Amino acid sequence: MQKRPRSAEIRNRKGMPFATVTAYDVSFCEAIEAAGIDVVLVGDSLGNVILGYDSTVHVTLDDMARHGAAVARAAVRSHVIIDMPFMSYEVSDEEAIRNAGVLVRAGASSVKLEGAAHARRIAAIVAAGIPVVAHIGVVPQTAALHEGFRKQRNRAELLADARVVTEAGAFAVVLEMIEGEVAGEITRDIAIPTIGIGSGPQCDAQILVLNDLLGLTRNPPPFARPYADLRGAATDALRRYADEVRSGRFEREPVVLLPTAEPPRRG
Ligand code: KIV
Repeated sequence: MQKRPRSAEIRNRKGMPFATVTAYDVSFCEAIEAAGIDVVLVGDSLGNVILGYDSTVHVTLDDMARHGAAVARAAVRSHVIIDMPFMSYEVSDEEAIRNAGVLVRAGASSVKLEGAAHARRIAAIVAAGIPVVAHIGVVPQTAALHEGFRKQRNRAELLADARVVTEAGAFAVVLEMIEGEVAGEITRDIAIPTIGIGSGPQCDAQILVLNDLLGLTRNPPPFARPYADLRGAATDALRRYADEVRSGRFEREPVVLLPTAEPPRRG
């Protein structure tokens, strides 16, 4: 039986491109594994795309543990990263370790936390035996308090952040909305894989929010081109079902499965 890749194996993928994606439930985690993707992130984007909040600050440790556990139950051969939510790691090393432990008990293979300013917490959690993914560039949990969701271009600062989280012991780092050339320079500079989102093609790996990728998000960010139109397909299926019930045809004629929509043409 194929096992979940561990953090050390993912660290060794430096220079070998791999795809990762967010997941929040069992059905989509099964589809992700069927597609051959073996690193999933239970992101706190859960708050926006599943729970309907306008920001990730409302997401709780219980939310992450519940959805993380669902994904982990479905993840037979995937490494499951679970996000530490806002205010679950800021207060002290002890609290951060305890909360990371809650996520590991829920099924996390590793945890992710935002910001190079919390490098000390990364070191503390790693010292407690829990692998950590770092996240620099735009950090959504506090972005609204600072510059918002603006492309990050400060080369010296971003390089320093990448080095700090690497030295703290992170085994990979998410680069969110970092100018492409700077992301490329960071990728060449540090020994751990960079996982880009809105940071150009020069990162070691890429991550997309599942609902953006599948065309389920009403207003996806400009860098997230959908590979399907599941919102359209779902609406169409629901409309046909409702029509059949209203017209008395429900269960009187066979269900006709329509072919799935062609992915949008690129280039
Ligand atoms: O929460 C999330 O989905 C994330 C990705 C944007 C990397 O952190």
